[in-house]
Amino acid sequence: MQDIIRTRDLAKSYANGHPVFSGVAIDIRSDERVALIGSNGAGKSTLLKCLIGLLPSSTGEIATLGETFTATPTAAQLNRLRRQIGFVFQNHGLVSRQSVLTNVIQGKLGLPGSWRAWHHSTARRQWREEAMDVLSEVRLADKAASRADQLSGGQAQRVAIARALIRKPKLLIADEPAASLDPATGRDVMQIFSDLAHEHGITLVYTTHDMDHALNYSDRVIALKSGGVFFDQPTSTLTRDDLRHVFHS
Ligand SMILES: Nc1ncnc2c1ncn2[C@@H]1O[C@H](COP(=O)(O)OP(=O)(O)OP(=O)(O)O)[C@@H](O)[C@H]1O
Ligand SMILES: [Mg+2]
Repeated sequence: MQDIIRTRDLAKSYANGHPVFSGVAIDIRSDERVALIGSNGAGKSTLLKCLIGLLPSSTGEIATLGETFTATPTAAQLNRLRRQIGFVFQNHGLVSRQSVLTNVIQGKLGLPGSWRAWHHSTARRQWREEAMDVLSEVRLADKAASRADQLSGGQAQRVAIARALIRKPKLLIADEPAASLDPATGRDVMQIFSDLAHEHGITLVYTTHDMDHALNYSDRVIALKSGGVFFDQPTSTLTRDDLRHVFHS
């Protein structure tokens, strides 16, 4: 299977000299769903950002979606990466005063050349249809006309998933997508994520502090601890005890 993300000897320190991690070597293959876990401050968000070129790494090599770079990708590489990646974050980042449909279409507008295409009514019609399709996939077609600030947290997060999906990404990056949701809604959002990634052949990398979410919706778990990878294992081989060791010395 094709490698979607590959790092060798990756290290990151912030400008203040604080080392976050070093010696990180990971291989994430096409279609895998990977949970990234670790204590607060272990470096999960930092690693995600380095992997997709949003934050410069300090040393080591990264190859993401066929783009190989050290520290920072070139502008052309970053463009190609952005085109193929969908993001979902803890605070969904919807534009509150706009409709659900407009918010989803905005996922498309982030793509290069899309502002030009937006002036053509054919593209607009097609994008509305695509937006309705992805809204159906997250079971929110009936909310298309609602304002984003009238949604519950779980619904808003499903819209954020739809907004990422409309980009037809190869890679979906989700930083604590269920962190602000109640247990039942959190499970629902994670299930939608995991199912849609699987159905569409999208590689999914998500961070979580919920060990049920780490175990139930991933094919593999990568744990960060003490400035490095503590383990990197198929989910089927992991026990709750293994996970506990990530958080206790
Ligand atoms: N912009 C920054 N400048 C300096 N240090 C930073 C910056 N961002 C994060 N850090 C530090 O880097 C370390 C890793 O932070 P990061 O946010 O990646 O951890 P995390 O695993 O995502 O934590 P959490 O579970 O709380 O989200 C922390 O010690 C943090 O204080
Ligand atoms: Mg984080």
